[in-house]
Amino acid sequence: MSSPIYLDNNATTQVAPEVFEAMRPYLTDLYGNASSMYRFGGQIGAALKTAREQMAALLGAKPEEIVFTSCGTESDSTAIWSALRAQPDKRHIVTTRVEHPAVLNLCNYLQSQNYNVTFLPVDEQGRVSLAALAAALRDDTALVSMMYANNESGVIFPIAEAAALVKARGIPFHTDAVQAVGKIPINLTELPVDYLALSGHKLHAPKGIGALYARRGTKFRPFLMGGHQERGRRAGTENVASIVALGKAAELAAAHINEENSRVRALRDRLETGLMSAVPEAVVNGDREKRLPNTLNIAFKHIEGEAILLMLDRLGICASSGSACTSGSLEPSHVLRAMGVPFTHVHGSVRFSLSRYTTQEEIDYVARELPPIVARLRALSPFGKERFSSAVTT
Ligand SMILES: Cc1ncc(COP(=O)(O)O)c(C=O)c1O
Repeated sequence: MSSPIYLDNNATTQVAPEVFEAMRPYLTDLYGNASSMYRFGGQIGAALKTAREQMAALLGAKPEEIVFTSCGTESDSTAIWSALRAQPDKRHIVTTRVEHPAVLNLCNYLQSQNYNVTFLPVDEQGRVSLAALAAALRDDTALVSMMYANNESGVIFPIAEAAALVKARGIPFHTDAVQAVGKIPINLTELPVDYLALSGHKLHAPKGIGALYARRGTKFRPFLMGGHQERGRRAGTENVASIVALGKAAELAAAHINEENSRVRALRDRLETGLMSAVPEAVVNGDREKRLPNTLNIAFKHIEGEAILLMLDRLGICASSGSACTSGSLEPSHVLRAMGVPFTHVHGSVRFSLSRYTTQEEIDYVARELPPIVARLRALSPFGKERFSSAVTT
């Protein structure tokens, strides 16, 4: 099979060739344990140090503020449990309705354990209100956990303003920045967050590696307890090869961040303009201004996103839909539901997410092939038949 046109980079990314080359020796010759006393182990320790520096440099953090974990989910869990365990008398958490399940499902569980959780709503553009955040804060609030950018809509939250507001009340602030890191500049010397979660497989490192930034001075309680790795903040023998990979991926992301915000953004806009002009009654989901440069979530009225994906797949195009298959039925995504995307549109939502490997040729191919697919599906749809029959082109 020829390589696909991969426009699902918010789900996962390809490992960059440079990243693979950087990690390879640590899967073959350099297999020592970083904690060992012999020179062989020391070499590994040096590689971990470099990776930590590379990761810190991308974020404007200090190397000792980086804790390597196994994934974004573990980083989120570590941050949330750390804040709760450090303040056992505080039982209130503030988050949003559109968080990734890594945060949402943990907050749901905490609710069942007698924590009180405020889930902030979003408006129809997927934006959160700072006034609603301010009004939600209480004396017993242990933590605010607000994602940096949404994985489905791409909408970027006002993290600097939110964190400043929350910190002024002396409340710890965590941000799930899994979708933001490497796509938009983040400078933690200026951003007053206490914790920030990220994941390697969203920025061209392999799956199974993540990191948590924990600001120096923030009370920290480890999630995994055991050995003294990561200065006692995350037990378990280090996943050396993947940590080296994440370091290299961070270095590459720093080098490519301007491209992400110029060339990749222009390609995303080209796809959006192409589809919006060729397909009647298409709507972009989410704030078009404050949005990740690589993400387009677009709704085609009166058809099923799944059907679009199947037809795109036949052409070798990979994207995601706005529905999740749960127990045999298609449930609209909690994000689109929270945004109040109308029933007629929510099922026909498709997310395209680009990367630095996306080419203009690929974008033009999708922009050409998708409109006739939508027209064909509308012609078959009981709702779309009459309305869109004139738009059928094939
Ligand atoms: C916003 C967000 N948070 C957390 C995660 C979980 O990351 P991981 O797959 O590394 O556990 C994802 C993955 O899709 C995500 O998009």
